[in-house]
Amino acid sequence: MKTYRIAAIPGDGIGVEVIAAGVEVLQALAGRDGSFDFAFDHFDWGSDYYKRTGLMMPDDGREQIKGHDAIFFGAVGAPDVPDHVTLWGLRLAICQPFDQYANVRPTRVLPGITSPLRSVSGPELDWVIVRENSEGEYAGVGGRVHKGFPEEVATDVSMMTRSGVARIIRYAFRLARSRPRKLLTVVTKSNAQRHAMVMWDEIAAEVAAEFPDVTWDKMLVDAMTMRMVIKPQSIDTIVATNLHADILSDLAAALAGSLGIAPTANLNPERAFPSMFEPIHGSAFDIAGKGIANPIGTFWTATMMLDHLGEPAASARLMRAIERVTADASFHTPDLGGKATTRQVTDAVIAAIAGDNA
Ligand SMILES: NC(=O)c1ccc[n+]([C@@H]2O[C@H](COP(=O)([O-])OP(=O)(O)OC[C@H]3O[C@@H](n4cnc5c(N)ncnc54)[C@H](O)[C@@H]3O)[C@@H](O)[C@H]2O)c1
Repeated sequence: MKTYRIAAIPGDGIGVEVIAAGVEVLQALAGRDGSFDFAFDHFDWGSDYYKRTGLMMPDDGREQIKGHDAIFFGAVGAPDVPDHVTLWGLRLAICQPFDQYANVRPTRVLPGITSPLRSVSGPELDWVIVRENSEGEYAGVGGRVHKGFPEEVATDVSMMTRSGVARIIRYAFRLARSRPRKLLTVVTKSNAQRHAMVMWDEIAAEVAAEFPDVTWDKMLVDAMTMRMVIKPQSIDTIVATNLHADILSDLAAALAGSLGIAPTANLNPERAFPSMFEPIHGSAFDIAGKGIANPIGTFWTATMMLDHLGEPAASARLMRAIERVTADASFHTPDLGGKATTRQVTDAVIAAIAGDNA
């Protein structure tokens, strides 16, 4: 029997609650399936670890997890540690050196969940956002000099490489081709950013020639926000830069009902390094420790991990269980307007897995 080694890194705040729930659900799924198992290694890295050691993860942290089949990640961020320290010290410290350059974020309105959009009853909103995850605005290039003086200068340089842009655009075209509508929107801002974004557009046009069966269009990021709200049914697959897609995917999650539902995968498609699976949301200080975090985003993320591991049947079984549970409003957590707890939603999903006969 195949045993998948998973590095579980819950991180901070509700990350701890939703990853614990996710691990339980994955174990139930393996038990139900019987043909594979998981071996979880738990890592207590994050803001508490930082307060004890001065580091978000140990110096050899990546060494400790590079042999795992996948990384199951919660969230980082604490009210008393600067966000750039937590993000760069853990999440980005894994994503970037592990070259997880494709950040894939599916969005759709799950059964029983109401979109805030009047025109959306469900099927009109079914998107996948592909976010460039290794360079661009989050390349980390820049600096500050003359700190605290009136002449202080600070720069963040958005750095794009031809190879980095080509590989993410190609990934997005392939993904668009695999979906029924074969439709890709390339998000840009080449009217104002006249160097890197112009190269981005040129590379998109070049790569598009390899995919004559995919219909594609190009959209300025500001106009894209409007299109997502006004004409959601005109969109299928989206590719955008690190910053643009970061913002668009929170909007997408809200339009699909809640940030607590949204999943994501940080993929190294070549599998030279493990890929990392996490819900989109952060550590949510406002609800941490209350037992009311919505674990659905983490469960949906787990389906993406199963697909990546080569277990599509188990992934489909988990997705059916998730949809059965979201369809019942008595299992909606407060972010969805309900009263259910993380525990109740987790138990309901585990029961749905046990009862699934497909
Ligand atoms: N990938 C990550 O680790 C990541 C992502 C985003 C934010 N952060 C960090 O998280 C911290 C808090 O950031 P924020 O408040 O901007 O974003 P957030 O995603 O933590 O929370 C935004 C809002 O959504 C709600 N929410 C989020 N997830 C939920 C869930 N599963 N169930 C129910 N409600 C949920 C929260 O209660 C909050 O009101 C910051 O330190 C930030 O840097 C980390």
